[in-house]
Amino acid sequence: MIVCRTRVELFPRIAEWKRAGVQIGFVPTMGALHDGHLSLVRVAREHARQVVVSIFVNPTQFGPNEDFSRYPRAPERDLELLERERVELVWMPDASEMYGHDEQITVDPGPVAKVFEGVVRPEHFRGVLTVVAKLLHQVQPDVAVFGQKDAQQLFLVRRMVADLAFPLRIVEAPTARESDGLARSSRNVYLKQVEREQADALWRALSAGKGLIMRGERSLAAVERSMRDVLASVPGCDLQYATVVSETGFSACDPLAPSGRLIIAVKLGSVRLIDNEKYEVER
Ligand code: PAF
Repeated sequence: MIVCRTRVELFPRIAEWKRAGVQIGFVPTMGALHDGHLSLVRVAREHARQVVVSIFVNPTQFGPNEDFSRYPRAPERDLELLERERVELVWMPDASEMYGHDEQITVDPGPVAKVFEGVVRPEHFRGVLTVVAKLLHQVQPDVAVFGQKDAQQLFLVRRMVADLAFPLRIVEAPTARESDGLARSSRNVYLKQVEREQADALWRALSAGKGLIMRGERSLAAVERSMRDVLASVPGCDLQYATVVSETGFSACDPLAPSGRLIIAVKLGSVRLIDNEKYEVER
């Protein structure tokens, strides 16, 4: 497995693969890898011969009071896991390699970045799209794999790739879950034991909402209420949003569209958790 820490190391490798016409699959990560990330790697492998994974804790997507400095970091273990997955190349720049001294241009993530996650994390998606744009230019993949779990991020990455004509395909990989339904996330390590026990409520709420839709409910308010009722029974659970959005605009619609996504964000103690589930009903 090749590990590149500078663009001088990375670019000739990528150029060689490009010259040889080899398909490159890419999984961008912030490290602290878990089974969820490894499942993205396996999806990338289905689409490409060479798999590149980036590990970069991107400072520009964290707000001033967020967890950038304490975000879990485990580079040695990450490399071991990726080696076991037979990843061909790991791109591990540091912040000065990724960002120059005086960069002035960023990606404007548009109106969808202002709702849901964007309400509590106002500059988050500008940071995400800017670093994803850089990573895509650096790695030049044919396919990039993003997890379903960060649904708004996935929506915005897809929009950026479409609107700014990036020449690659974005693939959505299903969320990896613990046995009680909790979506795997690097931030789950922050949960205290009691919060971890309560955290299955997100999946229970999504399942309740989806069950209602699959049984024919089309009222947005009714589905939102069913999710809220589940979460209301969890002491100390601060609900930030629980709603249903369309796949086309990532906005709530009433009556519900034939396909869409239930999305949830809560705070359990000091930990923010998000999750989502797709649905599709017969038209
Ligand atoms: O989903 C993540 O881990 C990050 O937002 C990403 C896409 C690697 C950009 O920093």
